[in-house]
Amino acid sequence: NSTFICLARNSAEPAMSASMTLYDTTLRDGEQAPGCSMNIEEKIEVAKQLERMKVDIIEAGFAISSPGDFESVKAIAGAVKDCTVASLARATKKDIDAAYEAVKGAADPRIHTFLATSPVHMKYKLKMTPEEVLDCTFKMVRYSKDYCSNVEFSAEDAMRSDPQFLARVVETAIKAGANVINIPDTVGYATPDEMYAMIQFLRDTVPNIDKVEISVHCHNDLGMAVANSLSAVKAGATQLECAVNGIGERAGNAALEELVMAVKTREKFFEATCNVDTTQIYRTSRMVYTIIGQVAPINKAIVGSNAFAHEAGIHQHGVMAEKTTYEIMSPESIGLLQNKMVLGKHSGRHAFESRLSELGYQLNAEELDRYFEEFKKLCDRKKAINDNDLEALVNNRTQINPVYKLVGFDVHTGNSASSTCVVRLEKDDEVLEEVSLGDGPIDAAYNAIDKIVGATSHTLENYSIHSVSEGQDALGEVIVKLKINDKTVTGRGLSTDVIESSILAYLNGINKLVEKW
Ligand code: KIV
Ligand code: ZN
Repeated sequence: NSTFICLARNSAEPAMSASMTLYDTTLRDGEQAPGCSMNIEEKIEVAKQLERMKVDIIEAGFAISSPGDFESVKAIAGAVKDCTVASLARATKKDIDAAYEAVKGAADPRIHTFLATSPVHMKYKLKMTPEEVLDCTFKMVRYSKDYCSNVEFSAEDAMRSDPQFLARVVETAIKAGANVINIPDTVGYATPDEMYAMIQFLRDTVPNIDKVEISVHCHNDLGMAVANSLSAVKAGATQLECAVNGIGERAGNAALEELVMAVKTREKFFEATCNVDTTQIYRTSRMVYTIIGQVAPINKAIVGSNAFAHEAGIHQHGVMAEKTTYEIMSPESIGLLQNKMVLGKHSGRHAFESRLSELGYQLNAEELDRYFEEFKKLCDRKKAINDNDLEALVNNRTQINPVYKLVGFDVHTGNSASSTCVVRLEKDDEVLEEVSLGDGPIDAAYNAIDKIVGATSHTLENYSIHSVSEGQDALGEVIVKLKINDKTVTGRGLSTDVIESSILAYLNGINKLVEKW
C-alpha cells in the first residue's frame, strides 16, 4: 500500500534485518519526570533488571545534575556488566568531567553529550550563534573523546532545526570523533513522515555518516513517539532511545515495550530485530510502575491489564477457535504467565521458591526467608495465593530495619462524626501510641502517625489504592507519595485490609523520609 511504499527502505539495500541497539533512558529522562523519581537502591534494581532483559545501553543518569545522580550513575556503572552504561552531559567541560568520573568504572562506559541546534533553543536558551554551536560541538565531542572511546552526540531539538544546519552539526560531531549521532524530537513535534525524511536526508548528505550509528530519541507530546521512532528505523536509524512504560519528560519518551514488540511482531515490515529478551518485559514494566507508585492504564499497549484480555463474545469465540484471530502476539512472549491459583497455607518453602523462580524472581537466602515469612502470614488471611499476589509480595520490598514498625491500630468511623484512630508504633523497642481525629479513618490514622513521629514538614502528594487480585479476600495495595522539600518518596503497603495497607504505605514512606530528616 502507499504507506509501505512511502516508508520502504532504499531499494538498493539488501532486505536483511538490521540489528537495533536499544538505549534505555528510564533512569535518566524517565526518572527526571515529575512523580517518577527513584532512590539509589531502586535505580540499581531497575538497572539490573534492564541488564537481565538485555537492553544494550543503560543511560544511568545525568551525573552533574546532583550528588545523588552522580552516585547513582557510579553505582550502576559498577553493578552492571553486560550493558554499556552512559551518563548525560551538556556540552561543557564540567558536565563531561562529571559524566566520565561517574561512568569510568563501567565495563563499557559512554559519554552522551548534547547541544541544542534549533533556532529557538540557540537564541533564547543557549544565547549562542550557529557558528558558536558548531565550534562548541567540535570542542566538546573532542574533549569527551579524549576521556572515552565511546561518545554519543545529541543535537537537542533536532526535529525543529534547519536540516542544512543540522547536517553541518552532525558532520562536525563525526569529525570530532562521535560514534553515535542522536536525532532527538525533544518536544514531540515531528510526524512519522518528517522523521523518515530527516534521517534519510542526513544519510544522503553528511559525509561519513555511514561510519557512525544513527539514533533517535522521540518524545510523546502528540502521541507519536513510537511511530516516529519506527519510521526512523525504516529510514535507517539503528539505535532507539526509549523508556520503560514510556515515562519521561512531559508526555514521556517512546515506550520500550511498544518499540520492542513492534519490531518483533513486524520484523519483516521493519527489516529490523533487537536483542531484548521480551519475556522480561512484563516484569520490568511492573517493577518500574511499582517503584514510581503507579499502575499501568488498563488499555496501555503491551503491558496494560486489558492488553491480552478478550471481552466481546465474538472475540472470545475467535480466540478459542484460533488464537491468532485476535492476538498478534502471545501473552507469554512478554512474560505474562497464566494466572494460576498456585499456593496456600500448606505450601512449603520449596513450592514458594520454585513458583517465584518460574515467574523470573531469583531470591537470595535472606530474601527467601523474609518473603516466605510474609507469605505464611498472608496465608492466614487469604486462602489461595495466585501469581499476582506473589509478585506483589516480592515487589513490596519491606524495609529490612525500619525505624518505625506497626504494632497495631484501632479505628472508629462512621458517616455522622469525625473518625478516630489509635496507632501504636514500635521504635527502639519502645511502643509509642497516639490517637487522632480525621476526615475519615485513613486521615485519622495518618494524623496519629504524624503525632508519633513528630512530622510536620512533609506533605501527602498522592494516595492510590488498587486490588492486586480478585475476590473478597483480595490484597489491596496502597501507594502513597510523600514530599519533603524537593524530595519525593513512594510508600507501599499491602494487606487484605485496606486501612492496614494504607497505614503500612504511609509508614513505609515515613521510614524512607526519616533517613532524609
Ligand atoms: O529530549 C531530548 O532532547 C533529550 C536529549 C538530552 C537527548 O533528552
Ligand atoms: Zn528527552
